[in-house]
Amino acid sequence: MNTTKVTVVGAGSVGATCAQICAQRELANEVVLLDIKEGVAEGKALDLWQTAPINHYDSRTVGVTNDYARTANSDVVVITSGLPRKPGMSRDDLISVNAGIVKSVTESVVKHSPNAIIIVVSNPLDVMTYCTYLAAKVKSNKVMGMAGILDTARYRAFLAEALGCNPKDIQALLMGGHGDSMVPLPRYTTVSGIPVTQLIAKDKLDAIIERTKNGGGELVKLMGTSAWYAPGSAAAQMVEAIMRDQRRIFPCCVKLNGEYGVKDVFVGAPVKLGKDGIEQIIEVELNAEERKDFDNSVKAVKDVMDVMDGMKLF
Ligand code: LAC
Repeated sequence: MNTTKVTVVGAGSVGATCAQICAQRELANEVVLLDIKEGVAEGKALDLWQTAPINHYDSRTVGVTNDYARTANSDVVVITSGLPRKPGMSRDDLISVNAGIVKSVTESVVKHSPNAIIIVVSNPLDVMTYCTYLAAKVKSNKVMGMAGILDTARYRAFLAEALGCNPKDIQALLMGGHGDSMVPLPRYTTVSGIPVTQLIAKDKLDAIIERTKNGGGELVKLMGTSAWYAPGSAAAQMVEAIMRDQRRIFPCCVKLNGEYGVKDVFVGAPVKLGKDGIEQIIEVELNAEERKDFDNSVKAVKDVMDVMDGMKLF
């Protein structure tokens, strides 16, 4: 019998939320939670396992302290390790600490699970995905970052509230990096097929777009640390698409290989996600203004990639 395994590295709030959803949805026989802090992953995994009889699922959650051997042969690994933002910090401020952490975590992950598909959640997201790609030395379809699902979820939630409609009916696309330069695309936003621009005034939509761009910062300000329910849920949705070979189309951070005229930059674009990871990068048509915003975002990400290259970790 082939048992399936999903590992979540980092048992902080994002990692624990992601593990909880993976287990509740029975995305794998085993969900391994790993952390460097003695006992934390063990405790959270045990607490989660005790919800199985209540919430009616049978994925086994297992917690370990830094024991990567226990993560061996994972099908999917989610990396959430690293420091979160504090108020006043940008995601890019985290690079000097998080790049070293993400590099060493990735090396340990790949040593035990050479075939795993890796989803990166650590910030600065796009550049940590690049870092993971360099450390993992695997094909680029197997390494991706979680940001687009989170950012579009915020955008969709704000729109549902403004329109007084159901969040399930809102479809949206957002591209670019996971930062202030992200590019929500109203032209590709619909409510049950109706272009959103027919349902909301431009000034209201512009305000929602601005709020979306600062959506992570709004939460950091409120809580003194960064968000976890939506980030953890978004990562679990990517795990589900891969484990169940759903071929869903989401915006994810991926290595562009000439798509959109961009090469070797990790940035958000719509992709098809299935059992092989990124099965297709979809090129949508962008008008001049969208193109300009996307190019700006690519440049912002590239600048931080250059900062990481300057750290000479690789
Ligand atoms: C956020 C962090 C996780 O956007 O980047 O909430």
